[in-house]
Amino acid sequence: MGLKEELNVILQEAGKEVKKIKDKKLFDEIRVKFLGKKGELKNILGKLGSLSVEEKKEIGQLANEVKDKIQEMIDEASERIEKQERSARLKKGVGDISVSRDIPPIGYYHPLTVVLERMIGVFKNMGFTVEEGPELEEEYYNFDALNIPWYHPARDDHDSFYISKGKLMRTHTSPMQARIMEKRKPPLAVVVPGRCFRRDAVDATHGHTFYQMEGFVVDKHITFADLKGTLLTWAKMMFGPQTQIRMRPDYFPFTEPSGEVGVTCPVCGGKLCPVCKHTGWIEIGGCGMIDPEVLKNVGYDPENVSGFAFGMGLERIAMTVYGIRDIRYFMENDMRLLEQFVK
Ligand code: PHE
Repeated sequence: MGLKEELNVILQEAGKEVKKIKDKKLFDEIRVKFLGKKGELKNILGKLGSLSVEEKKEIGQLANEVKDKIQEMIDEASERIEKQERSARLKKGVGDISVSRDIPPIGYYHPLTVVLERMIGVFKNMGFTVEEGPELEEEYYNFDALNIPWYHPARDDHDSFYISKGKLMRTHTSPMQARIMEKRKPPLAVVVPGRCFRRDAVDATHGHTFYQMEGFVVDKHITFADLKGTLLTWAKMMFGPQTQIRMRPDYFPFTEPSGEVGVTCPVCGGKLCPVCKHTGWIEIGGCGMIDPEVLKNVGYDPENVSGFAFGMGLERIAMTVYGIRDIRYFMENDMRLLEQFVK
């Protein structure tokens, strides 16, 4: 048998042996047997000495091809067996830690969620309960119960999305004052976070959809001093003990007297900076003593009980605390913004 035939025989034998193998470990044996230093191929190459240069070249080339083919067969077969073993392992329920996998991107808390949860934490500490109400609201609760009858000019300030006759997307969280008081008796101390909607033209500081947190307290002998003390305590717990608040006269149909609440700029601490537009103050919402008309509407006796209420804009607070310049960012869910907020 010539060397060429011998090589072919080796290739065939190797093929048969590879096919028979069921265990990955035995591949090494085959590799040694055919391709190793003392293996069958080396054996043949040892016999090249007696051949002519031409033949040496031809047989040498063939031997290389055979070597590559055998290696390929071994690789293929061992890969196949590895796959089988892996799927058998997985069937048995054994985790396969050898599989590399991409870790999906982790999510982050939305900045509004972070602010909201901090606010809720502070108010809970002060003894408030937390309630939520419908976003699709009845005109009665959104306006009439709050002393804003149909002819009242304040309705113009609340450009509304009406869904059907008498139903609209709530323009503020204040309707929950009426809903809750109607159902329950004082003493009450409740905060109501929630999404509100107005048909405002959208720009960097106005959204059609935004979050408010309503808060109100009703009991005997509640005064404006209680309102001020509550808001000051909240501000210090929220932004730090050096924080001060200010209240300036304002108007809301459902509170009397009414005020606009500001806090010393949490960014510069009142030293003037671009965030507070060099005023040292950030306006965060409205407040006041609940109007006796509203108390009457829910069946309370204004001679007997009194209360205060406030409503704050969450976007405003988050924009200030985090230096977010455009209110539209809150709705875009861009990971590049969100990944900056780790709770
Ligand atoms: N609801 C008012 C607004 O959206 C804010 C407010 C709430 C004012 C409670 C006074 C008392 O503008």
